[in-house]
This record gives sequence, structure tokens and C-alpha cells, in this order.
Amino acid sequence: MTAEWKITAELPIGIEVDGPLSSIDPASADTSLRDLFYEHKLLIFRDQHLTHEQQVAMSKSIGPVPRAVPTSVLATDGQLGDGELVFHSDLAFDPHPHLAASLHALEIEPAGGTSTDFLDCVDAYERLSPDLRARVDGLYALHVFPGSTTQRISTTRPEHYPRAVHPVAWAHHATGKRALYVNTQATASIVGLASDESDALLQELFDVLYNQATRYSHQWRTGDVVLWDNRALQHARNSQMHMRKRVLQRVIIDHLTFNERYDAFIASDAARLREDPALQMYPSLERV
Ligand code: SIN
Repeated sequence: MTAEWKITAELPIGIEVDGPLSSIDPASADTSLRDLFYEHKLLIFRDQHLTHEQQVAMSKSIGPVPRAVPTSVLATDGQLGDGELVFHSDLAFDPHPHLAASLHALEIEPAGGTSTDFLDCVDAYERLSPDLRARVDGLYALHVFPGSTTQRISTTRPEHYPRAVHPVAWAHHATGKRALYVNTQATASIVGLASDESDALLQELFDVLYNQATRYSHQWRTGDVVLWDNRALQHARNSQMHMRKRVLQRVIIDHLTFNERYDAFIASDAARLREDPALQMYPSLERV
């Protein structure tokens, strides 16, 4: 049986939706949520009370969930702290960035005091001038870790730190549409260009990406569920130091199972860097 999803609001990016979120069976053949998700890139559900298991089940209807346990919670005193995070795509510095992410607001105080902002990288690619589009098609960019949390990344990192190369205009795995896949947090350079040329081209791309009139700023309320396409959108947040409570239950959607990602991690140099204080925020180091 196909679940009924009712669009209750069109947003500048994405939609607000009502539907049977808490009773999704990921084993069913129903692709209606997945179809809605890839069409709109960002889905918002209000007034939900999802257990972690229900949020995992909902997320599994989009793709594999590598870390079914334990609950990964973002709180101001948690893994991502309370500082500013400039626009980024999660795990851009990894060969396999996450496909999508869902956050469920368990506690928000004061109400209306906190947001996560989104912009659309597919739209940005489509708005490049024909000349700029022709220049970037076929180019690759280098993404490094640790990135910059508050400004455009300006220094490269040691060769043995986590890093990955991705197409600048990356064809989306589900829709085939190209997204402008560079970001201020992690993109260090365009491969094969001299550093001044690379910096100038990145600046041109950032000007298009970050000066878009269309943005969506999600003002969190307790009970919200936000599900976004990590390959098609970027997200950011301001400093959260003013928040009394900001507890967001997070479930990541990957195309690797937990074992695939974790085995790859163990085999990688990143595992040997476990003790390096500069790499403590590396996501694969989250405790199992
Ligand atoms: C993130 O970058 O995934 C965190 C978003 C947020 O805390 O608003």
C-alpha cells in the first residue's frame, strides 16, 4: 500500500509535509517518500514524536542507515558543539559523502531561537553562465579535513589527512542532475589549476552559490523532523551559544552499510590518525 503524503506548505527550498512518518515499514515496496524526497530535496514534518528506531525506519526508506545504534544526538554540548558552521555538505572530504541526513528536534529552548539554513546546489549549477558551466564541466575539486567552521578554508592540510576529490559539477546519484559541489568549509582547490587560478575560479563559483536570493532558513521547533539531500543542498548554522537547549536526534543516510564504511575506515590512514588532536571531530571516529 502507498502511504499518503500531504504537502502543507511550499518552501523556498523543499516542502512541509504531513503523513504517516512514525509507521513506515522500510521493508515495504512503497517508494512514495523516497520519490517525494528526491523531487523536493528537503522535507519538513512538524509535531512528531519519533523514537530513534522510528526515525531509522523512516530514513531507511530513503537509503541505507550505516549507524543504526547508538542514537546520535546533536546538542550544544555534543559532537558538533555550539559554534558556527559555514555552508557545507557533510563528509565532502570523504570519497563517499553521506546521501542524506535527518534531524529530529527533541528539545529546543528558547523556541524560535535557532535555525539551520539551506541552499540549493543544483539550482546554483543551473544558474552558472554558459561560459562558467563549460569551464567547470570535467573539472575536479579537492576537499580536505579538518575544514574551516567560520570562513572559507584557506590552507591545505597534510597529505595524510582525510581528503577526497569530487567532480565540481557532480551528477546526482538518483536524479542525474548536476550539483555545484564545492563549499567554503572543505574545498581547498581545483585539481590541475595553478593556485591563483584555482582560487579565482572557486571565488567565482562561491559568488554564484552563496549570493543566491533563494535560501531556506529552518526555524526549529520541538517535534520538527528535517530530512535533506546532502548531495544536492548545503547547510549551515550560526553560533548556538545563546541556546539553553538544542537537542537534535540525527540519523544519517548513506549508500554504505555500517560495516562497509567502518571497514573502509579501519583500512584507511584516518584510523592511524586517531590520536591526532586536530582530527578529533572526524565523523568516522564517532564511537561505535
Ligand atoms: C550539521 O552541520 O549537520 C549540523 C546542523 C545544525 O546543527 O543545525
